[in-house]
Amino acid sequence: MENNTKTTAIVAKGLLQSKELYRHVLETSVYPREPEPLKELRDVTAGHPMSVMGTAPYAGQLMTMLLKLVDAKKTIEVGVFTGYSLLLTALTIPEDGKKENEGSFDYAFVDADKVNCWNYHERLMKLLKVGGVVVYEIVGTVVMPEEQTPEIFKSIRQATLEFNKLLVGDPRVQLSHVSSGDGVTICRRIY
Ligand SMILES: C[S@@+](CC[C@H](N)C(=O)[O-])C[C@H]1O[C@@H](n2cnc3c(N)ncnc32)[C@H](O)[C@@H]1O
Repeated sequence: MENNTKTTAIVAKGLLQSKELYRHVLETSVYPREPEPLKELRDVTAGHPMSVMGTAPYAGQLMTMLLKLVDAKKTIEVGVFTGYSLLLTALTIPEDGKKENEGSFDYAFVDADKVNCWNYHERLMKLLKVGGVVVYEIVGTVVMPEEQTPEIFKSIRQATLEFNKLLVGDPRVQLSHVSSGDGVTICRRIY
């Protein structure tokens, strides 16, 4: 727990702006149930200069729930970094889970170059089966006025705004925006 507390104190990650609530959720709900290999990976990642890129453990808890809800066996992930979300997926799906075959994936997670989200979405609409779920990790900077957005995030902000517009108009998916981690958009393929 000492290590966990240390990590939390350094980075109150994501959209949840109350540090106290963030710590409370982590210490009372997320960490006690986090599998040991994920804990170890998180501790190692905490020393990485870009550790902020790793999926937040409380967003990971939501993903574990989604994987179970869709009974995911075939999954795909775009954007791996040190692999917290990928390891979480591998630990959650059954041992005969696979990564192949168009039209048959149960679950996808996209946390890569945000400017390509729509390209990934078009491909995933072919790869996912009807009823399958895709989770996009989206950066919260989208809500900042453009003039207050740091230069390096401007293209991401613009691409995310366009992506959100396209998603709303996409009849193939049911969608929900969740303020977990950096913010996630959950899409369920409905046809
Ligand atoms: C935010 S991190 C992913 C964090 C990961 N979910 C985790 O829990 O560790 C984004 C990753 O996407 C990778 N990436 C960026 N553009 C990509 C692309 N076009 N194709 C594949 N990966 C890409 C980056 O190198 C980085 O490792």
